[in-house]
Amino acid sequence: MAIPRETVEQILQAAHIEEVVGEFVTLKKRGSNMWGNCPFHNEKTPSFSVNPARNIFKCFGCGKAGDSAKFLMEHEHFSYPEALRYLAKKYNIKIEEKEQTAEEIMQQSIREKMFNINEFADKYFVDTLWNTDEGKTIGLQYFRERGYFDPIIQKFHLGYSPAQWDAFTEHAKKNGYSDELLEQIGLSIKGQKGLYDRYHGRVMFPIHSLTGRVIGFGGRILTNDKKSPKYQNSPESEIYDKKQTLYGIYFAKNAIARQDECILVEGYFDVLRMHQIGIENVVASSGTSLTMEQIRLVKRYTKNITMLYDGDAAGIHAALRGTDMILSEGMNVRVVVLPPEHDPDTFGKEFSVDYVSNYLKDNAKDFVRFKTELLLKDAQNDPIKRGQVIRDIVETISVIPDSIFRITYVKECSRLLDMPEQTLTNELNKILRAKLKKSLGVDENVVTEPETTTTMPKQEETIEDQLPAGYYQERELVKLLLLYGSKLITDERIDEDGQKISEQVTVAQFIIDDLKNDGFVFTNAVNRKVFDIFDRAIDEGRIPDDSFFVSHEDETIAQLAADLLSSPYKLDQWEKYGIFVKREEDVLKATMLSSIYRYKDLIIEDRRKAVEEELKTTTDSDDQLILMKRMKDLDDIRKQINKELGIVIAK
Ligand code: UTP
Ligand code: MN
Repeated sequence: MAIPRETVEQILQAAHIEEVVGEFVTLKKRGSNMWGNCPFHNEKTPSFSVNPARNIFKCFGCGKAGDSAKFLMEHEHFSYPEALRYLAKKYNIKIEEKEQTAEEIMQQSIREKMFNINEFADKYFVDTLWNTDEGKTIGLQYFRERGYFDPIIQKFHLGYSPAQWDAFTEHAKKNGYSDELLEQIGLSIKGQKGLYDRYHGRVMFPIHSLTGRVIGFGGRILTNDKKSPKYQNSPESEIYDKKQTLYGIYFAKNAIARQDECILVEGYFDVLRMHQIGIENVVASSGTSLTMEQIRLVKRYTKNITMLYDGDAAGIHAALRGTDMILSEGMNVRVVVLPPEHDPDTFGKEFSVDYVSNYLKDNAKDFVRFKTELLLKDAQNDPIKRGQVIRDIVETISVIPDSIFRITYVKECSRLLDMPEQTLTNELNKILRAKLKKSLGVDENVVTEPETTTTMPKQEETIEDQLPAGYYQERELVKLLLLYGSKLITDERIDEDGQKISEQVTVAQFIIDDLKNDGFVFTNAVNRKVFDIFDRAIDEGRIPDDSFFVSHEDETIAQLAADLLSSPYKLDQWEKYGIFVKREEDVLKATMLSSIYRYKDLIIEDRRKAVEEELKTTTDSDDQLILMKRMKDLDDIRKQINKELGIVIAK
């Protein structure tokens, strides 16, 4: 269903980019912008900027840029309407929803339908837990017996799915959900006798996205039936990507950012227990080994991960898995091993929060040290094993991006392993050199496209020769149009009768008319679109503002606008230093004119070169004369342009 245009504008105006982005990225203020680590690519120093004044974001590393809706589309994989609805909800803006027709229900995107049915199922499981006899005596009883209190059961929306073969499936079908959807989302399974529930007689854990929507479920069996797995989990779907998901992140993200630390555990119950005793910066990897995506998810909030694992051999083994990956992301990894008989759930049940907190503090070991001590224990008196351990540790140190940390670890390991520092350093350098070679081999093939990448000057200098004439000047003019299109300047001319005319026009009108009159057309397709939009708007007597372009439905226009508006501009100085305001118009006019002249000059120079080339290959003397005449004309135009440019600059 279409959201009315006015409502869309209302939503986009109400949305504060720093608040929208701030839900997902930790931002720090620096100057007039806010900065953070880009959620769209891997980086060590923040190049992701948010400009509250213009209400846009831009990453100077990967080039992603846009308004609040664009951010949500990229980050949450929302469709445009989904992003708008999310913002409307956040800012309490009512979207006039009319009664949905059958056709509209059909058209609702599959993702929306999936979120919808999960929410429906979530309600059903919670309701069954609290309000049915079976739920209360079996499900609720189970949680309570394990020492969980009602508030935590409610907070995490824990539920119960009845033992009856098709209880939920029937309930969902009665409420209009299709067999197809039930099967796609994985709440039901198709058997020989028809559709039946995936979960029966299990307590239910809804799995929430970063924004708190239910994307899947895990259900724990309550019997000792060895034939069924302890947990049944939702299959992956359009809305559930296991490698990108961490259980509990929705409830933990604020605490993680606040405490600048994320505690990583393995199981659903471990997360619950920690929350119950008041330690809330906890997420679970859900028993699988950690993925890069999960690590980056955490990295949006903190660089410090503490892995809290069972004290048994399996737990320690799990701690070793995936940690090189975390280190290579430049994160600090520490490990806490619990006493052998405990997992975080039982540990938190047995001891007070103070005891647990102190235990974590006292027993957290940085990962390199943890690994060294652990491996060393195994290899104590075996020289061959010892050699292997050393290579293994050095390999781990080599993935750490920061050289200062690498040096520190080499020192510490040299002490722990009782080996000369130099031996370890030599080994480390060997590995680093090999890696560097490999990475250079890959990097040499990277080609940069001027249109899609960012405006980082370093990149552009190297491709300068391949760019069309006037590339930068064209961009400069588009930027002037976007930033100052509606500002007024005084246009002074001498008309045919020799009269001096002085007239107020907008910057947009001046630029567009001037270029059009002299037959100049932007060569870049997107710039051309912006030009045409201004051209038409001027005819209609209005000037679109920058937010119109940033939120434009044409992706390429929105991207260009966000790109250009994010990079600093010399004229921005006015806003900073009030003293220049008096001369604002003069400076603007001079800048505009010099941009126009420079642009024209480069285009004419390019045309002259082309004519010159043609002249070299032409043998016909008439043609030669024509070409030479054209060259002279172009030279005259250039002279004129440069004269005017000189006047502008001298002023
Ligand atoms: P655990 O076996 O440690 O489970 O597996 P747990 O959460 O601590 O549950 P209790 O305490 O035995 O009741 C850790 C995690 O691995 C995943 C689940 O996410 C679980 O929380 N897992 C485990 C499965 O997905 N399926 C299984 O069959 C077992
Ligand atoms: Mn457990």
